Amino acid sequence: MKVAIIGQGYVGLTISVSAGLANHSVIGFDLNEQLVKRLNSGVSHIEGVSSNGIRRLIENGKYLATSNPIDMDNCEIIVIAVPTPLDSERKPDLTFVRAAADLISKNVKSPALIVNESTSYPGTLRNEIAARITGVKHLFASSPERIDPGNTQWGTKNTPRLIGGLTPEAVVKAKDFYGSFCDSIVEVSSPEVAEAAKIFENTFRQVNIALVNEFVQIANALGISGREVIDAAATKPYGFMEFKPGPGVGGHCIPVDPSYLAHVANEVGVPATFIKRANEVNLAMPGYVVKRVVAGAGGSIKGKKVVVVGVSYKSNVADTRETPATAVIDLLRELGAAVTWHDDLVSTWRGESSSSISGSDIAILVAKHDGLDLAAVKACGYVFDCTGTIAGADGI
Ligand SMILES: NC(=O)c1ccc[n+]([C@@H]2O[C@H](COP(=O)([O-])OP(=O)(O)OC[C@H]3O[C@@H](n4cnc5c(N)ncnc54)[C@H](O)[C@@H]3O)[C@@H](O)[C@H]2O)c1
Repeated sequence: MKVAIIGQGYVGLTISVSAGLANHSVIGFDLNEQLVKRLNSGVSHIEGVSSNGIRRLIENGKYLATSNPIDMDNCEIIVIAVPTPLDSERKPDLTFVRAAADLISKNVKSPALIVNESTSYPGTLRNEIAARITGVKHLFASSPERIDPGNTQWGTKNTPRLIGGLTPEAVVKAKDFYGSFCDSIVEVSSPEVAEAAKIFENTFRQVNIALVNEFVQIANALGISGREVIDAAATKPYGFMEFKPGPGVGGHCIPVDPSYLAHVANEVGVPATFIKRANEVNLAMPGYVVKRVVAGAGGSIKGKKVVVVGVSYKSNVADTRETPATAVIDLLRELGAAVTWHDDLVSTWRGESSSSISGSDIAILVAKHDGLDLAAVKACGYVFDCTGTIAGADGI
């Protein structure tokens, strides 16, 4: 099939490569011309998608990136994979989704199946996408992406794919397309169910992470290891699911998607109390980390050299969106510490460069990537570990 994927970020590029490897001819459409240039020269910007893989697809005529929306015309399948962030009031911002729909409406004159993979609240496909695309009788389906960047066990192929269509024909076509590179398709009765399932999954994670984050604070105050308790509880073969504590939540999904659910809950007059409380607990974690560091380092960090190790939002990804490292660093600086940071995957961030670890009075391990020089971390005067990696170190 001739396929266009709108947005060549984490989701869009990953799907482009999966579709290209399944022998579809893929147009990777992105408004970012620099990115398009880089992709066409065979350079990937996403961990998990190799530059070699992109080069091979380009050589075989299976992939081409473009910034020209006209190139999407005559495609059988058009997938929307654009950002769905929160606005300054932490409300859903569908600007990118609407812009993508408008580009389709203006440029795609031959009937296609239009699939939304961007995460959003129920009703987005029907009311924000299909309703904006006029003049041509397209098919519409929702298939929210569930990818977990950096996860080597679960990827596009073996993660079951949800599909909900506006019409039965849309479902058939979507199953045909996704079935060519996904092992398992789960058809649901409407796009709204698929959309809601995605934001419920991430709300489930957000709430459970908040629960363990609160629990480790209770355990620490009781003088026991929260992580050891969680590991012990996880030996129960039923009725318990293990979540790991940490310095907060980051990335494009967990801190953001639940607010999409809270937004629609509010519109229909149902209080989303768990989401609100989970947000509060997770957002307070950087403060808890800094409080423990101050206590562990003798009561004051004023003038101390502190290195924050790992500023991406989780291990083995370079993504710094919504990373809790931001609040950790800002709070440390407010207390007068001389803060630098180190990340093997992030070279520059917030106008600063990654520094070396050695020579610091205090090291705070916020995210641990494979290959990290742990000996250098351990050599710092005081070590606080947010990742559960360093046996015997203070941490959460
Ligand atoms: N990153 C993840 O782990 C993940 C996982 C599952 C779902 N999602 C969801 O998938 C969607 C995309 O996320 P992402 O992480 O891939 O975002 P991203 O920021 O990595 O990439 C989005 C790309 O879309 C491009 N873009 C924006 N507006 C455009 C337009 N109108 N036309 C063409 N290109 C446009 C941007 O230039 C960018 O390259 C979001 O809804 C997100 O919540 C993300």
